[in-house]
This record gives sequence, structure tokens and C-alpha cells, in this order.
Amino acid sequence: EVIVLESPAAAGAFVAAHIAAEVRARPEFTLGVATGSTPLPVYEGLRAQAAAGTDFARITAFALDEYVGLPAGHPESYRAVVDREVTVPLGLDPARVNVPDGALDGIETAGDRYEAALAAHGGVDLQLLGIGTTGHIGFNEPGSSFGSLTRVKTLTERTREDNARFFDSIDQVPIHCVTQGLGTILRARHLVLLAFGEGKAEALAAAVEGPVSASMPGSAIQLHPRVTVVVDPAAASRLR
Ligand code: F6R
Repeated sequence: EVIVLESPAAAGAFVAAHIAAEVRARPEFTLGVATGSTPLPVYEGLRAQAAAGTDFARITAFALDEYVGLPAGHPESYRAVVDREVTVPLGLDPARVNVPDGALDGIETAGDRYEAALAAHGGVDLQLLGIGTTGHIGFNEPGSSFGSLTRVKTLTERTREDNARFFDSIDQVPIHCVTQGLGTILRARHLVLLAFGEGKAEALAAAVEGPVSASMPGSAIQLHPRVTVVVDPAAASRLR
């Protein structure tokens, strides 16, 4: 299902209202969170839902990915971003907020440990996704296997350039990440892919309507039985 709404704010409010209704029905809901710019309107919408009385204290969250090798507490580590945007403002229990461990010490087992935590918990109810200009979801760059699980990956130069805006310079953008695999993402019970702006139009059209191919990781969503794509008119502009 593709839903085109007039603005990122409208899309964020729409998705947040859906999540809040699910949480009210089942307070132990499990939300898959993404980072980057795209999900921020959803988090704003969730803050409005919390202010209006939805209690998020019992949900569990699992993040999609983390940079490798940033010092603990670095403001652009995805752990810090999730704490700032989601955990603290929504009043989540920090013990139930999971982010892959990007510390160099033990990095060889970070993927397996995250998969074990996901499995022990029973998976994700709703996974929020953005899409990169390369077509990545999570940090599964082109060529990633559709069966892949959480593991260390190398970011493409394009993705490092796209993410340099969060750092002082591109040299500070890590080269590696730990990301849920496409196979991990496809196990979530509901996928909600968001995209805003002209710059995402091409990748979005290829993911939603193009051939299913490992060269367009976003096209993996076509294999999932329940996907909601929520976009603004600019991101929708290349859909047929
Ligand atoms: C973030 C993630 C990435 C981003 C994508 C789009 O956790 O996994 O796939 O969703 O790079 O980034 P933004 O939203 O900043 O354009």
C-alpha cells in the first residue's frame, strides 16, 4: 500500500497515530526504529501522542543499525540519537531499547548478539524504514543478500557523503556499520517505509515498482506480505 500525504509532518502524524493506536491496544508493542532525517516527523508525532496520553513505557524498541567505532556517547552514534529522539522524550524504559553494539571490542560477535536478542524477544511488530539514495534499507547497500542477518558492513562513499551533514566533515563519518540484514528486516511483522523529497524519488520508485534485485536492496520490501509506504508528493513523483 502506498499512501501519499501532503508533507513530512502529515506523514509523521499519520504513522504516529497508527503506532499509538497499536500501543494502546497492546502496551507491550515492539517498535523497530530507524535513524537519519526521515523518521523524525514520526517521532515528533509520537511525542504529541504521548502528550495526549498514550503511554509508551512498556514498549520495546530495536534499532536498525549503528556505526562501528564511534566513542561511547558520541552524539551521532545511533544509540545517542535513539536516546535523544525516542527513549527520553517518549519515556521508554532504557533497558528495553536495543541498538546494535558498534564498539570495536567484540565487533566480531555484534551481529550474532543482536540476532539473539531479537529472537529471544520474539521479533519486531512494526519496523520503520527510510531509504538511502543508493537504495539501501538499514545499511544494506546494493549487493546485500536478501537472506542476510545482522552483520558488519562497509558504507558506500555515497552514503558517507549523504551522512556527512551530521558530522563536521566526511572524514569523521565511520566507514563501517553493524546493520540488520535484509533477512532480519523482512521478519518484522509490518514494514513502514517513509521517504520525503525529490532526492528519494528514484530510489523509492525502484524499490516499490522496479525488479526485485539485490542491486536495489529496497526492492526486498516487495517480498513482504505487509508493507505500508508513506511518502510526500516529491518522493512519489517517479511512481507510475
Ligand atoms: C537509518 C538507516 C538508513 C536511513 C537512510 C535514509 O537507521 O538505516 O537506511 O534510513 O540512509 O537516511 P535519511 O533519512 O537521513 O535520508
